[in-house]
Amino acid sequence: MCGIVGYLGPRQAVPVLIKGLQRLEYRGYDSAGIAVVDTVGRLHVFKRKGRVADLKQMLANQKIDAHIGIGHTRWATHGEPNDVNAHPHVSQSGRLAIVHNGIIENYDVIKAFLTKKGYSFVSDTDTEVVVQLIEYFMESKGMDTYDAVLYALKEIVGAYAIVVLDRENPDMLIAARQSSPLVIGLGEGEYIVASDATPILEYTRKVIYMDDGEIAIIDINEGVELRNIDNKRVSAEVQELEWELEAIEKGGYPHFMLKEIYEQPRSLLDSMRGRVNVAENMVRLGGIMPYLDRILSAPRISLLGCGTSWHAALVGKYLFEDLARIPAYVDYASEFRYRNPVILPDDVFIAISQSGETADTLAAVQLAKEEGALVLGICNVVGSSLARMTDAGVYTHAGPEIGVASTKAFTAQLLVLTLMALLFGKEKGTIPEEKFAKILTELEELPDKVQMILDKADPIVQEIAQQFQNASNFLYLGRGYNYPVALEGALKLKEISYIHAEGYPAAEMKHGPIALIDENMPVLIIATNQSAYEKIVNNAMEVKSRNGRIISVVNEGDKQLKQLSEYVIEIPETEEVLSPILTVIPLQLLAYHIAVLRGCDVDKPRNLAKSVTVE
Ligand code: G6P
Repeated sequence: MCGIVGYLGPRQAVPVLIKGLQRLEYRGYDSAGIAVVDTVGRLHVFKRKGRVADLKQMLANQKIDAHIGIGHTRWATHGEPNDVNAHPHVSQSGRLAIVHNGIIENYDVIKAFLTKKGYSFVSDTDTEVVVQLIEYFMESKGMDTYDAVLYALKEIVGAYAIVVLDRENPDMLIAARQSSPLVIGLGEGEYIVASDATPILEYTRKVIYMDDGEIAIIDINEGVELRNIDNKRVSAEVQELEWELEAIEKGGYPHFMLKEIYEQPRSLLDSMRGRVNVAENMVRLGGIMPYLDRILSAPRISLLGCGTSWHAALVGKYLFEDLARIPAYVDYASEFRYRNPVILPDDVFIAISQSGETADTLAAVQLAKEEGALVLGICNVVGSSLARMTDAGVYTHAGPEIGVASTKAFTAQLLVLTLMALLFGKEKGTIPEEKFAKILTELEELPDKVQMILDKADPIVQEIAQQFQNASNFLYLGRGYNYPVALEGALKLKEISYIHAEGYPAAEMKHGPIALIDENMPVLIIATNQSAYEKIVNNAMEVKSRNGRIISVVNEGDKQLKQLSEYVIEIPETEEVLSPILTVIPLQLLAYHIAVLRGCDVDKPRNLAKSVTVE
C-alpha cells in the first residue's frame, strides 16, 4: 500500500525514480510524485493525481539535472487523492521533502502542537505532519537532519516507512521503517531505497532489508549506516536478490495478470522442486523439519490470511483434516486479531501471505507469538516481514506477482499446503501408502495439466466471456475442496471486472441465493469432485429448473453436467485433493477476459492495492 523509492548516485535521478514508481505502482495508484535536488541545490517537487504515467507526462519537457531524489505512488488513507495530498510533502521552509507509506495514528495531536508553534499545513495528510515535525526540531532545537528525524520518530505512533530528502544535504537520504517494508539496494557508487526489491533489481542484486525500528543514513560518500531508535548502530546484513529482471516485466503479454496466469506451470514446478521425491515416495520441507514433532503433537492448526490467501487457508483446512487428520481452523487475520481469541501454547499457526507484508496478517502473527504459539509462514517474498517474524516456514517459489489480483501465488500456496498436509499425514500414518504415492505422482503431472488447461480451455473461456461480459451478477458454486475455489473465482471476477459475484458452497444455495436465480443469472458450477458428484448434479438441476444459465467446470468426458450446462469447460482429471489447483485456472481466465472486454484496468483495479500494509 503506497510505493516509495529513493535514489542517490551518478545517474539522472528523475528517470530512475519514475521507472521505480512504475515498478511499484501495483502498491497504490491514485496519485504519484517525486522530489529531487538539482546540481545547484534547488528542490523540485512534481506531483499529481492519477497514475505514474500522468506524472511522467508532466515531466516530459522538464530538464532537471539531479542525482538525488525521492518518489511515491499513493493509495490514499488520510485525505482524498488529489494533487495536494499526493506525496512528496515539503516542510514549511521548503528545505525538506518526505515520502511515507503507512499511517501516523497520533497525527492530529502533533498537528495541533505544531499549529500552535506557527506551522501551517497545506494538505489533509498525516504525512505532512511528520516533515513539519522534523523541521520543527531542526529550527527550534538546532538539530541536524538525522537527529531531527530520530526525535520526530520518537514522537510518532503508527506504521511507517519514510524517506527524507534535505535540500541542504544533497548527498544523503534518511530512511526509516516501522511496520512498512523498506529495502536498500547497494549499487556501484549508488543507492536505491524502495518499498520492495522490484525497482532495485536492474541496478544491483545486493540489498539490505531494513528491520522495524531501524533508521538508515544513506550517504554517497560514507555508504549506509543503520541505527535503531535508541541511536545505537546496528549491523546490516547484505543479501543477494534471486529474482531475474524478466520476472518483473510483462514479457510480451498485455497484462501482468495474464502473464502470471500463464506462468503457473512453471511456478508450480518451482514451488515443488526439491520437495517432492516420487522415487523415494517422500515430501521434504526443509524449513519446518526441525518443528515437525511439535506440529504433529499440536491439538490443532489455525490458518490465518486475508483475501486470496484466506481462500488458500480454507483449502488448507480441508487438506489438513482430510490427509493428516489434524483439526484445522481458518481465520481472517483481521478478525482474529481483534476478537480476543483463545490461543494455547501448544497451538500451531500457519500464516499465509503472498507479499508477507499484509498488516492484519502480521499483527495476527504477533499476537499468536506473544501467547507462545508456534507460528509458521507460507510466503512468496524472501526477506519479507512475515518471513522474518515467523518461527519457520515454507516459501512459495511463484516468482514476483505484480498483477493486483493474485493468481500464481494462490496456486503455489495451495501446492505448499498440499505438501504440508502430505508430510504431516505421512508422519502420522493417516494416509494409506498407495494414496500417498498416487497423489505424489499426480503432483508431478500438475504443471502439464495446467498447461493443457491454458492451451485448451482458454479459447472456450474467451467465448464465455464474450457471452457474459454484460452480466450484472454471477454466482459461483462448489463443494468440498472446490468450495473455496468458488469463493476465489467470485473474488477474481468482482475485483477486476466490477461485476457483483458471490461464491457459495453449492448445497447452501437453497438457503438464500436460489432466490436470485432467473434467466439472467450466470451460475458457474465447479463439478470435478469425485465425491459428492451426484449432489452437485442435483444442485445444477435446481439452478436449471429456475432457468439459471449454467457454466460448468468438469472433468474431461463428463456427461451429466454437460446436459445441464450452456457452456462446459473441460479440464484433465486429477486427485480430488489437488483439483483446486486446476479448477481455479479457468476461473482466473474468465475474470481476466471479462475484465478486458469491459475495458477495465486489469492489473490495477480501482480502489485496490496489492500489498495492504494498513489495517
Ligand atoms: C490484497 C490483494 C489480494 C491479496 C490480499 C492479501 O487485497 O489485492 O490479491 O490476496 O491483499 O495479500 P497477501 O500478500 O497477504 O497474500
